[in-house]
Amino acid sequence: MPEAPKDPLSILHDRFMDAMRAVMGEALPEGASPMLAPSKDPKHGDFQSNGAMPLAKRAGQNPRALAEKIVAALNIGDIAETPEVAGPGFINIRLKAGALSGALAAMDTAALGVAPVSGGAKPQTVVVDLCGVNLAKQMHVGHIRATVIGDALARLHERLGWKVVRQNHFGDWGLPIAMVTDAVKRAVEGRRLSLASLSLEELEKMYRRAQRDCEADEGGLAAVTRFGLGPKAEAELGAQVAGARENLARAQAALVALQSHEASHYAVWKEISRVTLAACFAAVGRMGANVTDEHTAGESSYAEELAPLVKDLVDRGVAEESDGALVVRLEEFGIKEPCIIRKSAPKGVAGGGAGGGGVTGGSAGGGFLYATTDLAAIRRRVQKFGASKVVYAVDGRQALHFKQVFAAAKKAGYARLAGGGDAELLHAWFGTILGEDGRPFKTRSGENVKLADLLEEASQRAEGAVREKNPGLPDAERRAVAEAVAMGAIKYADLSSDRIKDYVFSFDRMLAFEGNTGPYLQYAVVRIRSIFRKAAEQFGAGEAGAASSAALSLEAPEEKAIALELLKYPGVLRSAADACEPHRLCGYLYELAQAFSTFFAACPVLQATTEAQRRSRLRLCSLAGRVLADGLHTIGIKVLDRM
Ligand code: ARG
Repeated sequence: MPEAPKDPLSILHDRFMDAMRAVMGEALPEGASPMLAPSKDPKHGDFQSNGAMPLAKRAGQNPRALAEKIVAALNIGDIAETPEVAGPGFINIRLKAGALSGALAAMDTAALGVAPVSGGAKPQTVVVDLCGVNLAKQMHVGHIRATVIGDALARLHERLGWKVVRQNHFGDWGLPIAMVTDAVKRAVEGRRLSLASLSLEELEKMYRRAQRDCEADEGGLAAVTRFGLGPKAEAELGAQVAGARENLARAQAALVALQSHEASHYAVWKEISRVTLAACFAAVGRMGANVTDEHTAGESSYAEELAPLVKDLVDRGVAEESDGALVVRLEEFGIKEPCIIRKSAPKGVAGGGAGGGGVTGGSAGGGFLYATTDLAAIRRRVQKFGASKVVYAVDGRQALHFKQVFAAAKKAGYARLAGGGDAELLHAWFGTILGEDGRPFKTRSGENVKLADLLEEASQRAEGAVREKNPGLPDAERRAVAEAVAMGAIKYADLSSDRIKDYVFSFDRMLAFEGNTGPYLQYAVVRIRSIFRKAAEQFGAGEAGAASSAALSLEAPEEKAIALELLKYPGVLRSAADACEPHRLCGYLYELAQAFSTFFAACPVLQATTEAQRRSRLRLCSLAGRVLADGLHTIGIKVLDRM
């Protein structure tokens, strides 16, 4: 992969590290840094390095003498004047005239200095596993993260020139699903329900009821018998157990029917699936995340592959028997718990488990599991789609599952790349969304908050905020702006904190126009766009065009600061994508918006003293606006012209 073009500050950092290594040799401590920062006083140059002092202290040397040695070893003549040592050992650096403006002009392209990862060769493929909804269940607040983070990661990779394949690993297969399918089918046959008007709400209730109806209280019955609690208790529990066993047997038969695509079961299942996904795509689409039918590969799509896959693993000795189950041992990967790929006996009801998948079907022996399907998914993604990287935006509670599945896939050779080596498999896990009480976010009555309700409430609240901010907006535009602000606010709140952390969901905080929020950044873009509207009014329609190729003169410290900030953009995109950490990009955009505010307050643009200065500054405004808009678009947030 070609290196991203470097901004002057990171070039200086690298060259200082080289010089420090040359001076200190082996004695350079781990984590040593040149501690470069912009100079507070422009008299002293553009940057200051404070790294010599702590280094000298550790090595028992004179700090000024050490600073002199570092300067002597430093090789920065191409971009900076010879540095000066000051005070106890500060090193002052002044960039060569034109070094900063030259670098900035070079990044002022349509791509904003971002080079494609492949360097122009055939793009690499990344699969992003996102959304991950389940059949007959509504999307609730927990699905925000899997969708929003996944979509942002997909966009980040797209921006860097990857070929991105989105995969919504829809939980649509297995015994619990056969249970609800069977229940719906019977309700339809009994004319208690119409297939044509199924609602997801009703389906979710039926899903829960069907599961309960299959849970036999075997333990209770055993206790009643053992302790001789009397014929009445025994009869009651006996009836419960018999009923549940019967329901379970019927669900198992339904699963077999589904597996063989038996028409009447299959049609019902298809309809439940359609209703679930329609609601899912509506909510996801409202959030502006790109997840549709074409990105959806249900667990059912792997059903036929599981038996041959398990056979393959057994034949090659990758899987072995353990207590009647089939497992892949993972000790060599430092994982104690083996990956179970087939359960021992078809007895008992499948537990949902953290994966929400549970048992996903059965063959002659026990059922296949959530992990079995995920192994098939890795094989398809790497070997069929050609992915060299597979990223999973899935809850942190599934960490062990993915550790096991990744290791088992590697052991089985399913992650092997055509050119050798294994694909990078990465669980981009996330924490929980909390309520203001610090506990997992729930409704007042303790239920999961439905995503659709949450989005609607955000939009209503945003409309109030927008009305207050800009009472003059026509109704239709206000509603459109409010919708964009609301979705941006929810997404930005989710993306801007380190994904592995839990965060507190607060409408008030996320919808604020001040602080590190979506609306603040959207507003920063609006402000810059309005500068250009005014420029056109005052100086004619050609002003923006004239500014776009104006000579950049970066004299004021605020001009230099914004230039340096802008130059970081390509590197930030790269690091956010590599680490799968959208919050790095968010933090950067916030800093850029602040640097812009500072610049705009200190440096008159439309009132600049000369035409050359005005156009140079307008070009800075334009770059800032474009980077902000591009960055927001890259995390899936809409930008507006007015708000
Ligand atoms: N349906 C799963 C759940 O609700 C999430 C799927 C995540 N993706 C995957 N490949 N396992 O927990």
